Amino acid sequence: MIGTGYVGLVSGVCFADLGNDVICVDKDISKINKLKKSIIPIYEPGLDELVKKNYKSGRLKFSTNLAESVQKSNIIFICVGTPTKKNKYEADLSQVYSVAKEISLNIKSFKIIINKSTVPVMTGDKVEKIISNKVKKKLFSVISNPEFLREGEAIRDFIYPDRIVIGTSEKRSNKILKNLYSPLISKGAKYINTSRRAAELIKYASNAFLATKITFINELANLCEKLKINVEDVSIGIGSDNRIGSRFLRAGPAYGGSCFPKDTRALIDTAKKSKSSLSVINTVINSNNNRSKLLLNRIRKILNNKIKNKKITFLGVTFKANTDDMRESSSLEMIPFLNKKGAKIKYYDPTGIKTEFEKFKNVQFKNNIKDACEMSDLIVIHTEWNEFKLIDLKKIVKKRNFIIFDMRNIYSAEKMKKQKIKYFGIGK
Ligand code: UGA
Repeated sequence: MIGTGYVGLVSGVCFADLGNDVICVDKDISKINKLKKSIIPIYEPGLDELVKKNYKSGRLKFSTNLAESVQKSNIIFICVGTPTKKNKYEADLSQVYSVAKEISLNIKSFKIIINKSTVPVMTGDKVEKIISNKVKKKLFSVISNPEFLREGEAIRDFIYPDRIVIGTSEKRSNKILKNLYSPLISKGAKYINTSRRAAELIKYASNAFLATKITFINELANLCEKLKINVEDVSIGIGSDNRIGSRFLRAGPAYGGSCFPKDTRALIDTAKKSKSSLSVINTVINSNNNRSKLLLNRIRKILNNKIKNKKITFLGVTFKANTDDMRESSSLEMIPFLNKKGAKIKYYDPTGIKTEFEKFKNVQFKNNIKDACEMSDLIVIHTEWNEFKLIDLKKIVKKRNFIIFDMRNIYSAEKMKKQKIKYFGIGK
């Protein structure tokens, strides 16, 4: 596994747990040294135990030596980052190409090279070309095998995937891959063998579709607020139709993370380069980009246009619960805005203090819910961690007339009403 980010590390550890001999390679020496001591660079429930167990058994190894690791392996997964290029929609593929070049210098026997990084359509063709500059075609096969792991649920998603997508037209490689994934196929995962380009597009189309679903329900939530309808009732009503499906229909803040924003942008770039229009996805991106402003407007209304000197608490600041990932989290737009308007902000996140807010004078991290909420005027539930679900806020806040803005709809509006707490949710 080349690259020990979310995809590389989780997949590598899980493949080892299935009984394979795995080497996780990264050029970051300090990361590899930490991994050898079972210090995990990311927050992912259950991952540290699995690393410890498989490292101890010897099935899982960590290395900075790409050349040696490639020579020792039959199957090589490229799992490096493909971030958006600065100020553009296009994915930056420099890491994928430089790894491909390095791999090509170390092939002496037949290797299957798999792209697990999220890459635009035809990247596999380019990787194949780079490798064929140095290696005879019969000595390697380039395959696309996109990953569908969610942060926070990554191990479960690896072990029980809905589907495994293998993009190759080569029978021999397909057979080897089917065999590698057979423990998951026997547990019910659907195995899909398709063309390499289709596999590449399936990854982007999946993320873009899920982002569309979320944006759709977020916009319906806006309408529900005007019509005094509970959007959750609408989600249940439409989600019960199997053609629509109930998952990813929870209205909330703008979607964030390292995938949906980046991948929707990259898909638009692919469409543009092919002189094709993906107007639906363009609309989704724009709607999501406006969502934080819309919710900030709602906060302004809730506070009767008086933000200055208001004590505001954020519970959770990452892009969703069960992760420490701040990438494209809506809190990165909301907290600085409220701070600029003169609010005094305290925040608590189960994954600790965030460097992103260090530069703001009136934004303070508190290391427990009680200190974060005490004497607040407004409490914003920004992510849906379990530990936020059973808080006795009345007891903790110690102030009359405080307000809750529950951006994840984790509380019941009726219960709040009974407790005489001023409560606002999303789409209600
Ligand atoms: C996403 C996909 O779900 C994975 O299948 C994919 O493998 C991954 O991207 C990737 O490409 O690597 P992830 O970014 O970890 O996974 O997060 P999600 O759980 O999908 O959530 C993304 C965003 O949508 C979050 O901001 C979350 O709060 C939001 N969301 C999700 C909603 O607002 N409502 C929902 O109903 C579901």
